Amino acid sequence: MQKLEVLGGKKLRGQVDISGSKNASLPILAATILSEEKICLTNLPRVKDIETMVNLLKSIGSNIKRDSKKKSLSITNNKKLKFFAPYNLVKTMRAGILVLGPMLARFHKAKVSLPGGCSIGTRPIDIHLNCLSKLGVEYKISNGYVYASAKNGLVGARIKFPKISVGATENLIIAASRAKGATILSNCAIEPEIKDLVNFLNKIGAKIKWIGKRTVKIFGVKKFKESKYKIMPDRIEAGTYMIAAAITEGKILIKGIDPKLIKAEIDLLKKIGVKIFNFKNKLKVIGSNDIKNTIIKTAPYPGFPTDLQAQIMVLLCKAKGLSIISEEIFENRFMHCGELNRMGAKIIIKGSKAYISGNIKLKSAELMATDLRASVCLILAALIAKGKSTINRIYHLDRGYESIEKKLRKIGAKIKRKS
Ligand code: UD1
Repeated sequence: MQKLEVLGGKKLRGQVDISGSKNASLPILAATILSEEKICLTNLPRVKDIETMVNLLKSIGSNIKRDSKKKSLSITNNKKLKFFAPYNLVKTMRAGILVLGPMLARFHKAKVSLPGGCSIGTRPIDIHLNCLSKLGVEYKISNGYVYASAKNGLVGARIKFPKISVGATENLIIAASRAKGATILSNCAIEPEIKDLVNFLNKIGAKIKWIGKRTVKIFGVKKFKESKYKIMPDRIEAGTYMIAAAITEGKILIKGIDPKLIKAEIDLLKKIGVKIFNFKNKLKVIGSNDIKNTIIKTAPYPGFPTDLQAQIMVLLCKAKGLSIISEEIFENRFMHCGELNRMGAKIIIKGSKAYISGNIKLKSAELMATDLRASVCLILAALIAKGKSTINRIYHLDRGYESIEKKLRKIGAKIKRKS
């Protein structure tokens, strides 16, 4: 199994180019099922989750041509497709459930594996299923699969999400794009990736309009058009490199991201003492050895993202006093804390809150990654720990960070992959 070795203590300096967003690419790839026309997607990140979604689409019969150098692919779903998403492809990536909505919209039938457990929480799909049933879907769950159908096709409806869910909002927006009549969805997640999905759908011929902050109106259409679409940049990758600059007291120019997309992150880092200069589509981050302690609550966008909670925690170990992070989205997203404590951190978990003592100098260790964001948090910790750290189980990392060692080495990190 592959692992990473990191020699800590280097200040990172230089430029990082941000890749396309994984979390925007996944629903957009799933949404291509809606259309019979050719769709060309560019700026897809080269990460494992995208591979998995592409393999899922190939397995149902999509015709996909890739140009991996240009990070683009063209996809045509004009042949007879299967409406089956098997366990072996959905088990490694929860976003596999996003094919359910488009399959039902186009074929009125779908058999999709339940995504199953996940180390960061139980992550049910009840909201996806209950809301799809309001569009006319009937379903049963048997042997680990969702068997769903809509005898008369999907019919538009007025639906209020009982809780803000990124995946359920995406599944419903995609499904309603090819339903009969109009759908109004309220209490939607409004992450930039959802806005990107809506922009994509409108480009291929859907009729979707935001009519309130969290309310969207979708007029179902049956015909789509041939189109080309560029995926937005990965704001979580950008946030991770901002924290890398801050934590190593380095200076990094982060290119290819609109600072407006990561306002909450920029505001927070500035508040605790990191210097950040915004430009059009790039920002300069300068670390400091004077980080203030703080209180953070993760929240749906525009709040502070749960996907950066593990990374910011490492920075708070260096703060001048006690910090508190409340994890409000997932019930079990503190698995990295045990590993950070093995490096000398003093983090205590009480329910959904982590109490992080400051003024800690982390020490190197042999470490085990537990999920995608926890993996990158351990790399950040290893970058400032004295000595050589080894991070095991890095397959999680490869699901979501493109060329991370290469990008880090380019800005001065001592990091290498070993088999
Ligand atoms: C997406 C992101 C993930 C991010 C998360 C929250 C992708 C591919 N993944 O995940 O990186 O951490 O948003 O920003 O974009 N829930 C239910 N029932 C449901 C659906 C969700 O109870 O049917 C709960 C979840 O368990 C969780 C909360 O709602 O506690 C939010 O989850 P959701 O926003 O759906 O996250 P994902 O779409 O899975």
